[in-house]
Amino acid sequence: MKKNYYNFLDLGEQPLANFYIKKKDLGKKEKKYKLKIRFELNSKLVSIEKTFSSKTMFNNEYPYRSSMSKTMKDSFLKLSNEIKKRIKPGKILEIGSNDGSFIKNFNKKKTIGIEPCANVEKITKDKKFNTYPSYWTQDLAKKILKKHGEVDLIYSANTISHIKNLDDVFKAINLILSSKGTLIIEDPSLLECLKGNAYDQFYNEHIYVFSYIALKNLLKKYNLKIYKVDNLDIHGGSLRYFIKKIDQVKMLHESVLIQEKRELKYRLNLSSTYKKFALRVKNSKKKLISIFKKCKKNNKKIIGYGATAKSVTVLNYCGIDSSYIDYFLDTTLDKQKKYTPGTKILIRKYSGSIDNDVDYVFLGAWNFKKEILKKEIKFIKSGGKFIIHTPEPRIL
Ligand code: TYD
Repeated sequence: MKKNYYNFLDLGEQPLANFYIKKKDLGKKEKKYKLKIRFELNSKLVSIEKTFSSKTMFNNEYPYRSSMSKTMKDSFLKLSNEIKKRIKPGKILEIGSNDGSFIKNFNKKKTIGIEPCANVEKITKDKKFNTYPSYWTQDLAKKILKKHGEVDLIYSANTISHIKNLDDVFKAINLILSSKGTLIIEDPSLLECLKGNAYDQFYNEHIYVFSYIALKNLLKKYNLKIYKVDNLDIHGGSLRYFIKKIDQVKMLHESVLIQEKRELKYRLNLSSTYKKFALRVKNSKKKLISIFKKCKKNNKKIIGYGATAKSVTVLNYCGIDSSYIDYFLDTTLDKQKKYTPGTKILIRKYSGSIDNDVDYVFLGAWNFKKEILKKEIKFIKSGGKFIIHTPEPRIL
């Protein structure tokens, strides 16, 4: 039988991202897996080949906090204001509410949050938000429907692309979304990922990197339709899709047609595009390694900034470990004093500035480049430089 997918990228052996290593476990063997990326020829969906269960990835030790960046908080606030002004929903449900950065902008009585990582969900529960420490499934949707009734707005940022069983996700959404309700989904954009050679958008949690065309195809099955698309500067370029039940969409916003045109112009529907991307990724690896080697040859001190899940892919793919990077700085408490997966680089607490003896900083959190460069103006003015791998590995 002819294969209906094309495996276009092999990112080598990778550990699970977001599984930061405790000091006492440094000697233990880490589990690794082959990270390969594929393009489904019919649906146009791009996904990783080997997936892990949600229970493996999202548990009581999950370190990610959406409130860690001003960029994210500002973005949630801006969207919340837009929702209040234009959509004026009654009940709001968020899938993947994390530490409450979005729901906190609304009246507690109106919001329901779903967050499977109990350690993170506790943050909102303690503040008396109506949140559930559960995975988003049809069973949960039925339970919530019984207790709270239908909802008028469902929002989910950087979460749907983490769930393997999309059929269950959208069936659950259809169970609880009112007939005139709005669904807003936000995830990294495949077009921007390819354009920026941001191969680190692929790791075990990012099962899918959606394009408009792939999501449109998928949603058809569930009688859902995208009526507006916003391009966001978030996470290296994201798309925010505004969706309704098909019979409620009278007209498409021009942004939908523009996005479709852009994606087709870039040939996101063709395998050859992915083949070219894979070649660019290989070149990117060579270039990044040569930058690190050159800095080390000149006895420069390099540290990392933002121990992101994304950077786990880059560091492991390029073989950049603690012999190149002395340590990472990160503001997330749950990552501090731990070591990066696979490459075992110490993560230190960010205490407001970069040490004077640092020459180069590898920007793991390149998706917050603007915010970070603004914050580190003193380091830059005193001659400090940043290393970034996207869109091309270079020194800033
Ligand atoms: P992020 O890119 O949001 O996610 P992912 O892990 O999904 O790739 O992670 C950003 C990380 O960078 C997070 O651990 C917090 C850290 N960070 C800083 O340490 N300082 C900063 O100024 C910013 C913006 C982020």
